[in-house]
Amino acid sequence: MQDVSIKVRENGPYLVNGTVTLIDADGNPYHVEQNFVLCRCGESKTKPFCDGSHRENGFTATERAVGTLQE
Ligand code: FES
Repeated sequence: MQDVSIKVRENGPYLVNGTVTLIDADGNPYHVEQNFVLCRCGESKTKPFCDGSHRENGFTATERAVGTLQE
């Protein structure tokens, strides 16, 4: 089993660590390294990847995991 983690960075992107396949809306895989960041502010010019724009656009998000999701 592969170990993958996704860390929510305060006021920033999702940091993905591990071997994953990231697929676009047409089913095509992106080339990704083992560690990469996904935009969460919606302003990146290189979506779905973070390009650092969140630092200039005032993006704020400080969510914390306070419980577990139930399905
Ligand atoms: S989160 Fe970094 S550019 Fe959107």
